[in-house]
Amino acid sequence: MIPPPVAAGTALLCLTMNPSVDLATETAEVVPTHKLRCSPTAHDAGGGGINVARTVVRLGGACLALCPAGGPTGDWLRRRLAEEGMASRFVASAEDTRVSFTVHEGRSGQEFRFVMPGPRLSEAEWRACLDALDATDPFPGLLVASGSLPPGVPDDFYARVARLAAERGGRLVLDTSGAPLDAALQAGVFLVKPNLRELSAHLGRELPDRPAQLAAVRQLVASGRCEAVALSLGHRGALLATRQAAWFAPPLAIEPRSAVGAGDSFVGGMVWALTQGLGWSDSLVWGVACGTGALLSVSTGLCRAADALHLKDQVRLEPLVWEPIDC
Ligand SMILES: Nc1ncnc2c1ncn2[C@@H]1O[C@H](COP(=O)(O)OP(=O)(O)OP(=O)(O)O)[C@@H](O)[C@H]1O
Ligand SMILES: [Mg+2]
Repeated sequence: MIPPPVAAGTALLCLTMNPSVDLATETAEVVPTHKLRCSPTAHDAGGGGINVARTVVRLGGACLALCPAGGPTGDWLRRRLAEEGMASRFVASAEDTRVSFTVHEGRSGQEFRFVMPGPRLSEAEWRACLDALDATDPFPGLLVASGSLPPGVPDDFYARVARLAAERGGRLVLDTSGAPLDAALQAGVFLVKPNLRELSAHLGRELPDRPAQLAAVRQLVASGRCEAVALSLGHRGALLATRQAAWFAPPLAIEPRSAVGAGDSFVGGMVWALTQGLGWSDSLVWGVACGTGALLSVSTGLCRAADALHLKDQVRLEPLVWEPIDC
């Protein structure tokens, strides 16, 4: 029997350096100049790691959320996560937590997503986030770092998190893009979840078809920079590769209502499954079920547990021919 990649019951922490208060509303048509009369706003706590944590909690898992929070929006975030029963630690920031804004256009059904850069964190503030992580006792066996870095935080921040996790015996799951992704992969992570655009940018080449995508995930695992790569392909499905095996998960046939949160719900499903002691292929099944489930709920809605449970039975993984990688 191959042992699961992560032991059942492993403690999970989700780090969100750029959390947000996500507002969602609807208007008939987005046009310039005119006042756009909108429906009442829905508010949600958001940002990559928070979305992952909320997905895990919905599935019945336990998770600690760690993020900076500042100003009235930061107070709202603290209150909201407490109301949702999320165990959370906050590092105070001088500037306000950002607000993100999604407008659903009634006439076309299109979604317009306005995403702000976030507050500038001082060196003392981002270092305090690392210290808060270091001070987490016991240190989480599985650590998710997800989302963009706000202004002021250096590109090597996630690389620092990766080194800290390695020192403390935690495994890092990373979902980010650009220079912070490049730097963290240099330091080495456990699981990385790029989408096609992010992996292409990291490798500096187009990945137009399955052979190119497989070669890319193989290159990444063989480089020793990560133990596994989950490459999400949007409406084309997902690929998961480890040193020993690789699978393709075809997309499920659904009518998407919203694209918001698919990637975060995908990571949430995967890490929840890993903390249950499930194997890699089952974690991909749960990732696809939750990523797809997020498309069924409108605006800032993440995957509902009932949708994930229902969808997971429809996921049919295709094992891929995979020469084991020595490294
Ligand atoms: N249109 C779709 N139809 C079917 N499945 C989808 C669709 N979009 C996403 N999915 C599922 O959700 C998973 C994650 O979506 P995606 O690849 O879009 O993540 P992402 O680009 O990280 O998204 P995000 O914008 O939330 O960061 C996909 O691998 C797939 O399984
Ligand atoms: Mg994403």
